[in-house]
Amino acid sequence: MPDPSGGSVSGANDLERPGPMRDLAGRSAIVTGGASGIGLATVRLLGARGVRVLVVDLDEDGARRAAEEVGGWSIRADVSRSSEWAKVVTVAKELLGGLDLAHLNAGVTTGEAELAMVSDEAYRRIMGVNVDGVVFGIRALVPVMSAGGGGAIVVTASLAGLVAFGGDPIYTLTKHALIGLVRSLPPQLSPMGISVNALCPGLVNTPLLDGPSRELLEGSGFPLIAPEEVAAAVVACMAGGQTGQAVVVQAGIEPTAYRFSRAPGPRTDGGSPGLPPGPLLAHDQVPPTP
Ligand SMILES: NC(=O)c1ccc[n+]([C@@H]2O[C@H](COP(=O)([O-])OP(=O)(O)OC[C@H]3O[C@@H](n4cnc5c(N)ncnc54)[C@H](O)[C@@H]3O)[C@@H](O)[C@H]2O)c1
Repeated sequence: MPDPSGGSVSGANDLERPGPMRDLAGRSAIVTGGASGIGLATVRLLGARGVRVLVVDLDEDGARRAAEEVGGWSIRADVSRSSEWAKVVTVAKELLGGLDLAHLNAGVTTGEAELAMVSDEAYRRIMGVNVDGVVFGIRALVPVMSAGGGGAIVVTASLAGLVAFGGDPIYTLTKHALIGLVRSLPPQLSPMGISVNALCPGLVNTPLLDGPSRELLEGSGFPLIAPEEVAAAVVACMAGGQTGQAVVVQAGIEPTAYRFSRAPGPRTDGGSPGLPPGPLLAHDQVPPTP
């Protein structure tokens, strides 16, 4: 199916779904930003599937309430600080005995369309939470997952990770960054049995939308996605066998893996035309060896 941004999308049936992780019961998970919105919905769904959950959030009371709902655990941590990730890993090992699943979901917006209006402080905050929070998280969690024989990481990006969103260009920057990270990591994570995927939801009905724009959005007739729908896609990604995917979640449609178009390669003598050298290709674009 053609897509206005130049890529194309494919149906859910195109996703590979082998997967030793199909049965999640008895597994252990962390969910960042689990006190609210999408993260809270994931906590609830994982709990219902028999997963033992550690809720990680800046909002200590909210995290505790979420954990209590599912008989899990909570920890107050700021995902943007790498030192706090050491704490999260220690607690996960102590309480859960290891880690199989991670939903790296905490995120913020600048709420600002005008670049000139974004202060240094606001810029550092969003880069810290949305980008550093995921980089530090994956870096800290991979050794624990690897030691346990593998795992599944799902990052909450956004549709703004795939398309230009002029309403918040810096938010858009952070979510594009996550897509690049997720697409580049499979070659080093797959041998350890760890999958990493990004979810790209459209507008989700959570407190993140609160503010002057909510009324506008609700009046526009644009359907908001229920956080539970996003959580279902998170759990499907964890249970499925795919990796390096950016999965679009929109109201009323099946979660769909986004198909990126190929960037033009150089003209080479006797080389395969149109393809950049191996290290520049996404893991799923590497041409088969003859
Ligand atoms: N709501 C949407 O329309 C929408 C759409 C696409 C993607 N997303 C993404 O989904 C994710 C979750 O958003 P949501 O809509 O559920 O928002 P939300 O505001 O309901 O929840 C975000 C949670 O993250 C926590 N958090 C913020 N900064 C943190 C930090 N430094 N360390 C730890 N926790 C922190 C907050 O306390 C809160 O509990 C975000 O990454 C967001 O960018 C949201």
